[in-house]
Amino acid sequence: MIQIHLSRTLMMALAIAGLLFSGASMAQPDADAARLLFDQSDCGKCHNPDKNKKAPSWKKIAKTYKGKATAEAEVIKHMTKGGKVKLDDGSEEEHKVVETKDPKALKNMAQWILSH
Ligand code: HEC
Repeated sequence: MIQIHLSRTLMMALAIAGLLFSGASMAQPDADAARLLFDQSDCGKCHNPDKNKKAPSWKKIAKTYKGKATAEAEVIKHMTKGGKVKLDDGSEEEHKVVETKDPKALKNMAQWILSH
């Protein structure tokens, strides 16, 4: 009897710990996963997280969106819709679409960009 109670308590504790953990990882983007997607999607051809290249850095983009409630949604839209963008040198190019359709990965990517 006692043993059953103990294991139930343990299960509850584990469940709560799991919830807390997933809550924490939601607030903090997974930078490694985002960086991998960044490389796979060739974003680095035009973007550098810290420096402005042909395109604005993540730092600059994060600044533009600072405090905006719709920031994440707008960044995701920009990464997925494609369309022409103007590069620093004045030429135009088709914007790269990020190499995933997984909403979680897109969200993580947006949070990573905006965390700079
Ligand atoms: C061909 C060059 C090029 C590539 C490759 C590229 N971008 Fe961009 N990106 C740009 C330019 C230029 C801008 C700024 C012009 C604009 O906002 O219209 C921009 C803007 C952005 C913005 C900001 C939009 C805003 O509303 O301020 C985000 C976010 C972004 N890019 C994400 C990405 C991601 C993620 C990738 C990889 C999947 C990527 N870009 C690949 C050229 C590129």
